[in-house]
Amino acid sequence: MIKTAIIGGTGIYNPDAFENRREVLQETRYGAVAITIGTHQGIELAFIPRHGSKHSVPPHLINYQANILALYKLGVRNILATAAVGSLNYDFRPGQFVLVDQFLDFTKSRPSTFYEGGDMGVVHCDMTVPYCPRLRSALVQAANNLNYTVINGGVYVCTEGPRFETAAEISVYKLLGGDVVGMTSVPEVCLARELGMCYATVATITNFAAGISPTILTHSEVYEVMKNNTSAVRKLLLESALHIEAQDTGCDCARILDEVKVKL
Ligand code: HPA
Repeated sequence: MIKTAIIGGTGIYNPDAFENRREVLQETRYGAVAITIGTHQGIELAFIPRHGSKHSVPPHLINYQANILALYKLGVRNILATAAVGSLNYDFRPGQFVLVDQFLDFTKSRPSTFYEGGDMGVVHCDMTVPYCPRLRSALVQAANNLNYTVINGGVYVCTEGPRFETAAEISVYKLLGGDVVGMTSVPEVCLARELGMCYATVATITNFAAGISPTILTHSEVYEVMKNNTSAVRKLLLESALHIEAQDTGCDCARILDEVKVKL
């Protein structure tokens, strides 16, 4: 049974570290999704590259519904996601990892629920604690074992993209309490919660955000920092997957299912 999946963001396009790799095409009502399955120390894991294996899908066009539903149908109940982010906080510096614990949603045009009314019904999903505390503590434990420093907690501001932000937008997000800014955590984390799945993000800071950075922002700068950190992120995810498998209870993420009438 595959309980845990990795969704790779910018810079994390393949699950090279998995052993016994094979690919499955999982059908969903939103389209088919190619998922790589493999093992790490005997544990089965799944992998999806969020932007496609060649970074060809921009953040606002990612088929988040298909990706999350495909993992769910495969039996996955824990998702570890990676994300490249800009920093709004002088204490959060490029090259550091943040285990975000909250988000502010500034997306505009994305399907953000599985429950569109009609036969599907309406679901008002609790998001008080959006990122699973159990997965986050597995990530902290893994980071300690590996001697990595991670910032445990931070507010992720999700923008629509694909453009970067203006300096004025960043000042507002900072005033509102944002720590890091990216373009993909919403609706991914929300859709996972609608299916009662646990979800956590390892955000890698690739740059100071617009207006905080002394220079203009480029995607190549983001990609370059991610590339330098890919191997560390991979190790962190794989190590934490072992901890996740060992302790499987202790969060409220699946409680949403008590209120959902239509099972997907
Ligand atoms: N803004 C939005 N998304 C990002 C950034 C940023 O500065 N850096 C990496 N992803």
